[in-house]
Amino acid sequence: MDFALTSEHELIREMAYKFGQAEVVPGLAERDREAKSDRLMLDKMAEAGVLGLGIPAKYGGSGTDYISLGIACEELERADTSARVVMSVHSGLHSLTLLQWGTEEQKQRWLPKLASGERIGAFGLTEPNAGSDAISLRTTARKDGGSYILNGEKTWISLADYADQFLIITKLADSADKPVFCAFIVDRNLPGFTSKPLKGKLGVRAGNTGQIFFDDLRVPADCLVGSEGDGFKVAMSALDHGRYTVASGAVGIITACLDACTTYARDRKVQGEEIGRKQLVQQMIANMVAGRDIGRLLYYQVGWMKNVGLRHTREVSMAKWQNCANAFKSANDAVEIHGAYGYCDEFPVERYFRNSRGAMIYEGTHEIHTLVQAEYELGYRKDKPLTHMLPAWEPGL
Ligand code: CAA
Repeated sequence: MDFALTSEHELIREMAYKFGQAEVVPGLAERDREAKSDRLMLDKMAEAGVLGLGIPAKYGGSGTDYISLGIACEELERADTSARVVMSVHSGLHSLTLLQWGTEEQKQRWLPKLASGERIGAFGLTEPNAGSDAISLRTTARKDGGSYILNGEKTWISLADYADQFLIITKLADSADKPVFCAFIVDRNLPGFTSKPLKGKLGVRAGNTGQIFFDDLRVPADCLVGSEGDGFKVAMSALDHGRYTVASGAVGIITACLDACTTYARDRKVQGEEIGRKQLVQQMIANMVAGRDIGRLLYYQVGWMKNVGLRHTREVSMAKWQNCANAFKSANDAVEIHGAYGYCDEFPVERYFRNSRGAMIYEGTHEIHTLVQAEYELGYRKDKPLTHMLPAWEPGL
């Protein structure tokens, strides 16, 4: 394994950092306070080319490797979690899953428009009664001639009001005894589709989250992703990609905490001495540095495994679990270092604290990943070979 980043990786880091600081940060405190998401941000991200990262050039993507996608997520979340969430749902959960499971015809049909940002993709697994217990979802698909009729609802859907199409996980109707899961690409313009924003979130308030509903919604059979019965595997594969973007983004929160805390600790003086000279403050800074550096190694490893076409469910769970926990701890310490100033929105650290809390819940709670890691180690969980693997990265393709 080669840990050296290429000049292309460095360029992507710089581009994503500059984009975040120039396009995401201005006006962010106000958007966050007023819980206003900005649809224009998606167009700006499309224009910057970030929405095609990880997608091969032959499908209209950037042709860059999967580590580049992680680096972009890290730098975007350094600006704000809402920008990284766009990458998680559009690039990770939706586009990479299509790249893994779609037929050649489906990839040709959808990936170029997703990569350019002409269409925005999102993901729907969670339901009001099925979060961690995803297998208990109730949305049904009933086969009817050359199409399927969907009924049900999904909640906590990022970009619910903005996405043009959704990767939706359902159960085949009348398969309750032995559920047959199916995954579909659902166009939001189909009759029977509605969405509603969710209000009152603790964090990621500058991002759009909502509920989506299917009322006798007819989806053409050629929108089925994988075969009937593959739906849960499609969902879990999607989470392998989504968790990668969350894990890499979490490192960006730690970096943002370090940006804020190193500046504040050098500026703020107690009895004539910078608080950065205090050992307890140094301990918190040192823990953040460790979280950042270990976090990078964890997600670079997963990016490398994606690049060479290896299954990485265990490793990405580890990266998501640890990096999100370290991001939350860093944000908590960042508030502590700022004292009372950390408790108000004059400084960004209170936003990092609220945003980092969410990532310990979505895409597998802290507890689910704890159990998953223990189960692998005890031999209770073993990965089986998959019929569809994410294609390894091929330079120039
Ligand atoms: N890729 C492909 N297939 C996989 C897989 C993967 N990564 N992981 C598991 N599978 C397959 C298994 O091989 C198994 O196949 P068989 O039926 O052929 O044996 C099948 O999927 C079921 O897998 P498990 O036995 O591992 O299932 P489980 O019931 O033990 O899983 C769980 C339990 C790990 C808790 C899982 O349900 C889970 O991860 N829950 C959390 C769900 C989650 O993260 N939700 C957040 C969604 S984010 C969202 O919706 C909002 C948004 O917009 C961001």
